[in-house]
Amino acid sequence: PKIDTSIREDRFQALDTISQLEAQGTILDRRNAPKPVLIFRHQETQAITALNPMCTHQGCTVELLADENVFDCPCHGSQFDLDGAVLASPAENPLPLFEVKQEGDLILVKA
Ligand code: FES
Repeated sequence: PKIDTSIREDRFQALDTISQLEAQGTILDRRNAPKPVLIFRHQETQAITALNPMCTHQGCTVELLADENVFDCPCHGSQFDLDGAVLASPAENPLPLFEVKQEGDLILVKA
């Protein structure tokens, strides 16, 4: 079924579904370009997290190294933890987190 992705009054927007997340592991949603949203599930807490995967150094898209619970930037080696905090430079600022909530199967992210 098609998701209604219009932005609601509370600024939350339904982007994807839990079923899709379970099937794919992570979802990189570029519909709100230039602000991409990366959605994934914390293995430990099972919480769903959404962040902007554009490296705060020069904007490359970071990749999740799931085995290491680390986001790695392929351009100059910056690394971030699963909450977006910087683990390795040259990036100095964290990856911005989005507020997320769940409604049935829908994953809503605050635009
Ligand atoms: Fe990510 Fe430079 S753009 S480390």
